[in-house]
Amino acid sequence: MTTTTTEPVELNPYEEDPLLVVDALHTEIMTPRGALKAVDGVTFSLRQGETLGVVGESGSGKSVMGRTVMGLYRSGGNMNVSGQVLLEGEDIQSMTARELRRVWGSKVGMVFQDPMTALNPVKKIGTHLTETLKEHSKLDGKAARNRAEELLNLVGIPEPRRRLDQFPHEMSGGMRQRVVIAIALANNPRLLIADEPTTALDVTVQKQILDLLQRLQAELGMAVILISHNLGVVAGRADRVGVMYAGRFAELAPAKQLFADPRHHYTRALLAAIPKLEQPPHVRLDAIEGAPPNMVNPPHGCRFAPRCRAAQEDCTHVPPRLVPTDQSNLMGHKRHWYACYHPVSHDTPGGE
Ligand SMILES: Nc1ncnc2c1ncn2[C@@H]1O[C@H](COP(=O)(O)OP(=O)(O)OP(=O)(O)O)[C@@H](O)[C@H]1O
Ligand code: SF4
Ligand SMILES: [Mg+2]
Repeated sequence: MTTTTTEPVELNPYEEDPLLVVDALHTEIMTPRGALKAVDGVTFSLRQGETLGVVGESGSGKSVMGRTVMGLYRSGGNMNVSGQVLLEGEDIQSMTARELRRVWGSKVGMVFQDPMTALNPVKKIGTHLTETLKEHSKLDGKAARNRAEELLNLVGIPEPRRRLDQFPHEMSGGMRQRVVIAIALANNPRLLIADEPTTALDVTVQKQILDLLQRLQAELGMAVILISHNLGVVAGRADRVGVMYAGRFAELAPAKQLFADPRHHYTRALLAAIPKLEQPPHVRLDAIEGAPPNMVNPPHGCRFAPRCRAAQEDCTHVPPRLVPTDQSNLMGHKRHWYACYHPVSHDTPGGE
């Protein structure tokens, strides 16, 4: 077991001319049991054209974070949001509803898990697209219909002209999700937030949709936040990966580094839980025991401590902050950050 010697430093989200800056974001949801800290201090930045994978188990705050970044969740009612979200320097959380609609139509798009909820069942596919185009790019009539056809073609829908006159229920789940992606892309957003975009689809269609997103990201040069509870989904698709645990990043690193050299014990346990094909079926996989904490009354100190095999007494006082690994000469997005007092190291057997 090694103890980190790195002095704690705050993650600086403002490095390298970012497209998106998320700084000390907190989203509390008032519930009958008290204020639930769904997002509890998330900081990161995203560069133009970059893909950030956000992974974590159910309830870790991924969707609430995505929706708060998008400005769908704001202070008011049962929500309390603090911290900053700057998209190309504009503060999303302090915008008026009108300003937000402008940003949604032009700078940021979102794709949710279930394509059916994003589409109005009584509206034809063409109407969904032309309405979005009319509202934001002032395209009308034939020009809007032509652009709608172009967009369906872009997302790989065969016979796009015929599809414009279909209703959502006349399409398969995979085709509907392609339509939702086409709508999100209608006005060339700089940022796409994809929240479990394939969870509701069967396995072969999942891969097709993920490949489509990857191709569009490269062709259109947009940045993507790809949210998933499955590390396998972001592997090979994200430039960087943030591992969320109980409303925060436990680790944030370039994808290859995170997979090859995880420092947080939660990341390591997640990686160990991925089934390996070469393992004979009778070998028990290393599942993560225990449950995530109650975020109305989270534990003091490291939130993973009750489930961590490497926990020590000093883990339970003050929550660990993100610190960089020793390669501190690496700049911004190349840095590997983790929040752990006794990180996984190479010289401990089994890495723990
Ligand atoms: N509208 C809401 N009202 C009350 N609690 C909510 C609401 N939305 C989310 N939560 C709670 O906030 C926490 C974080 O939820 P969130 O949906 O962000 O998790 P997640 O990481 O996206 O999980 P999953 O992988 O299941 O989608 C959970 O405890 C959830 O129950
Ligand atoms: S800080 Fe302590 S409890 Fe938390 S992951 Fe690291 S070793 Fe485990
Ligand atoms: Mg979710």
